[in-house]
Amino acid sequence: MRLRRTVTTALGVGRQQGHAEVYRGVREVVNLIKKVRLEIAVNDEFVERTIEAIIKGARTGNIGDGKIFALDLPECVRIRTGERGNKAIG
Ligand SMILES: Nc1ncnc2c1ncn2[C@@H]1O[C@H](COP(=O)(O)OP(=O)(O)OP(=O)(O)O)[C@@H](O)[C@H]1O
Ligand SMILES: [Mg+2]
Repeated sequence: MRLRRTVTTALGVGRQQGHAEVYRGVREVVNLIKKVRLEIAVNDEFVERTIEAIIKGARTGNIGDGKIFALDLPECVRIRTGERGNKAIG
């Protein structure tokens, strides 16, 4: 099954606090770097598998590979059918 997901372009900064770039002879520190934010809602039994899949796809071993934040999701509603919870997520 292909994972349902939302992809958003984002600006962010991690531990490295950006990097320096020279533009027309002027050195500037770029604090916010273009990132991609992925949002994936899954039922409890898929959390670990989803984390593993993201790591497999995203890990290069270099700084900036990204982070995964796992959050609780109290409710989900499929508007078309009115389904809620597990049924609505899957
Ligand atoms: N604690 C945090 N809170 C919110 N956003 C974060 C946090 N840590 C990282 N991010 C976001 O994730 C992006 C990628 O983070 P990044 O992989 O550079 O993390 P890191 O902690 O600096 O680890 P590494 O040393 O591997 O680079 C950042 O640019 C930022 O947008
Ligand atoms: Mg970083």
